[in-house]
Amino acid sequence: MSATPTLPAVPAIEDLLSAAAGRAFAYLRDSPNRPVVPGPAALQALGQLAYRLPWAATDPRDVLALLDRVGSPATVVTTGGRYFGFVNGGALPASVAAGWMVSTWDQNLALRVMSPAAVAFEDVALEWVRDLLGLPHGCGSAVVTGATMANFTALAAARHALLARAGWDVESDGLFGAPPLTVVTGDEVHVSVLKALALLGLGRARVRRVAVDDQGRMRPDALPALDSRTIVCIQAGNVNTGAFDPAADLCARAREAGAWVHVDGAFGLWAAASRRHRHLTNGFELADSWGTDGHKWPNVGYDCGIVLVRNPESLRSAMSTSSAYFVPGEMREPSQYSPEMSRRARAVELWASLLSLGRAGLADLVDRTCAHARTFANGLRESGYEILNDVVINQVLVSFGAPEVTRAVIARVQQDGTCWCGGTEWQGRTAMRISVSSWATTSEDVSRSLDAIRRAADESRR
Ligand SMILES: Cc1ncc(COP(=O)(O)O)c(C=O)c1O
Repeated sequence: MSATPTLPAVPAIEDLLSAAAGRAFAYLRDSPNRPVVPGPAALQALGQLAYRLPWAATDPRDVLALLDRVGSPATVVTTGGRYFGFVNGGALPASVAAGWMVSTWDQNLALRVMSPAAVAFEDVALEWVRDLLGLPHGCGSAVVTGATMANFTALAAARHALLARAGWDVESDGLFGAPPLTVVTGDEVHVSVLKALALLGLGRARVRRVAVDDQGRMRPDALPALDSRTIVCIQAGNVNTGAFDPAADLCARAREAGAWVHVDGAFGLWAAASRRHRHLTNGFELADSWGTDGHKWPNVGYDCGIVLVRNPESLRSAMSTSSAYFVPGEMREPSQYSPEMSRRARAVELWASLLSLGRAGLADLVDRTCAHARTFANGLRESGYEILNDVVINQVLVSFGAPEVTRAVIARVQQDGTCWCGGTEWQGRTAMRISVSSWATTSEDVSRSLDAIRRAADESRR
């Protein structure tokens, strides 16, 4: 006869959350002094998690202790100021704190009736984002998981609008037998756009790729003929160089032809928040849809993508659904504008981050990270290394010579742990990518990291 399992006494929630707060605080306090990437012992310890789920319950205090003991040392320290990989920021304190509240509230953002509070925060945050990015009033918008999903959602709206114009209801009838659409991108399009196109049945390989210049900007003179069944995907902030497509020119050409313009502005669009860098985003407001990320430059915690569409009806038509038990109300309902139905109230973290920064703080974050990027570029150039891009925002590409030398420097930097930089290929050249995307990066972090990179370069050339 099997014994009936009994639940252990649940510790007071206050004790549990206080313990979590203590552990989280210790984690953040130690972040700046830890190696940026976990060492072999910490990685090996992750193996301790791989056991069969026990039949018996585990006291939540022990769950938390195991999580912190095994998990925390094996994290990548993106919160410490010296992580320059991909375009990863570090969550702002207000975002972390708001995230705790969001978890505590446990709200579902699908419908207003499920959480009037969460929807109110999302409405406000989306309006702030639209305004900060200088985009038109009245856009339809939603918070999604990241720029990949923002691109996907916007392109679904584009697909809807262009096919509806041709008398085809893609949401009902699918793409079989539909009038063909043409998709145009630059040759340096981000893979997330191609992934979104593939998910939408528009195909990666059917895309017409337009020649770009040495910074990855689409060349308007290379644009093919456009028509009212063409989607043109342009870019605000190339993931390697940070460069911006000539939006005003491209949008004017598209508008004349009745084509739809989508902007992948995962991080670059936020340059609009800074007086000094805003000019780079000129013309992007003329597009039809935009995808961007809160979790990149604005340093909202993961995950936080944002989609905006000039004509809200195109977005709503592509995303809406209803059922007898799931009846949207009169006002904007989040699930009618996003791919998900149930959803975490992640917009609260976006709202909290933006409010904690204010307009001036966001502009300063953009300007400061760009200044740090220039310091990296100047410092490495002075040491004799080649900077492959015009450092217009927060991205730096550096070559240390032959491809194998550059790869060796990247490997040494990563092993050293003072900072973390990734690698890339840029128009046939092997490069180290330095992306300064965190509010926490200080001038001292930059000079320590520069020293570490120079040291790695010296050792690799010996
Ligand atoms: C230009 C660009 N677009 C899209 C993405 C994808 O963003 P996410 O990882 O948030 O989906 C990135 C990520 O770096 C990016 O740089």
